[in-house]
Amino acid sequence: MPARRTQVLTVDRHRPDPEAIRLAADTIRSGRLVAFPTETVYGLGANALDPDAIHRIFAAKERPAADPLIVHLDTFESVAVVAVDVPPVVAALARRFWPGPLTLILPRHARVPLSVTAGLETVAVRVPAHPVALALLAAAALPVAAPSANLFSRPSPTCAAHVLADLDGRIDVLLDAGATDVGVESTIVDVTVQPPVVRRPGGVPLEALRELLPDLGLVVRAAAADVAQVAPGQMLRHYAPRARLTLVLGGEERVRQYVLSAIQARDARQRPIGVLAPAEDVSTLSQALRTPNGERDVALQPYGSRGDPSRCARELFASLRALDARGVDEILAIAPDAPGLGLAVRDRLMRAAEGRIVDTGCTGSA
Ligand code: TXA
Ligand code: MG
Repeated sequence: MPARRTQVLTVDRHRPDPEAIRLAADTIRSGRLVAFPTETVYGLGANALDPDAIHRIFAAKERPAADPLIVHLDTFESVAVVAVDVPPVVAALARRFWPGPLTLILPRHARVPLSVTAGLETVAVRVPAHPVALALLAAAALPVAAPSANLFSRPSPTCAAHVLADLDGRIDVLLDAGATDVGVESTIVDVTVQPPVVRRPGGVPLEALRELLPDLGLVVRAAAADVAQVAPGQMLRHYAPRARLTLVLGGEERVRQYVLSAIQARDARQRPIGVLAPAEDVSTLSQALRTPNGERDVALQPYGSRGDPSRCARELFASLRALDARGVDEILAIAPDAPGLGLAVRDRLMRAAEGRIVDTGCTGSA
């Protein structure tokens, strides 16, 4: 049953007020829902061992039961509470990347309800690197299942206002500690298969993981339009703004030329089109669009810069929400190149595009 009022507790991100943490932990322990910051995005937490609490997460988010949740722990040692037959490589990964934006898929312990894992015999776990999340997990003294704290298929929340926009009145408590650092969700690595594979690129770059796991694979999700036929954990539709988003791929020059032509071809009576692009592309486009009558009817939304894909990641979801707020019903998106967090940014935009991808070719690529 949805909560009637959401209690917002503002806390210091480095030294959260123990009373606020205690109240939030008690809320979790009594089977209710708490949204809290992690280093990636805000999560919507509930007791991972309580099927009723888990049901509340799915109801509040309107999330399909086939989409499994990540279980959050405050220490590596707690992995044994929720997983069995933990492969030796997990200790090495944990030492290097935990606390941090890495989720590991492991064989499920029988005490973890199947509703957490969408019926799978595996469970996703991580130790988040955020003082507020760690304080909450320690005080709750329970494994906490937490998907991103947004309505299903909306962009993940990177600040408390995003959480409230989607879930106000549907959750019991929100710990507000300001904007998150990483901005995209954790990297998910499946260590139940040999060699291990990345099931979702995210906050830990592929390059860093391959230093420890040289044969690590990357599963590229197909642009399946038919969500119902996709296996649990592999759903494509996600991160979507309300507007129809098209991802424009290719070399820098070609991508800009394509976007420019698409803007100029529009009828003046059409609603403004949104453009989501790194700062370099936005400044080139805005110069090209400047006419004696001012700029054309376009909402240019910069996010990060080509030289700093981590900033693109940090600003991605807020920028998608900002474009929605500007009332556009169509968005053309340009992604940074794939090294570092660029890969995760591309992945989120591919999924937001739901198959609407234009490849302009690679000539002129930086
Ligand atoms: O950074 C993050 O990971 C954030 C913060 C809150 O920790 N959480 C997050 O959760 O992104 P969520 O629910 O939005 O995404 C969880 C995804 C599922 O959609 C699924 O793709 C994958 O994790 N997943 C979970 N359990 C899985 C399993 N047993 N096998 C395969 N994939 C799984
Ligand atoms: Mg999510």
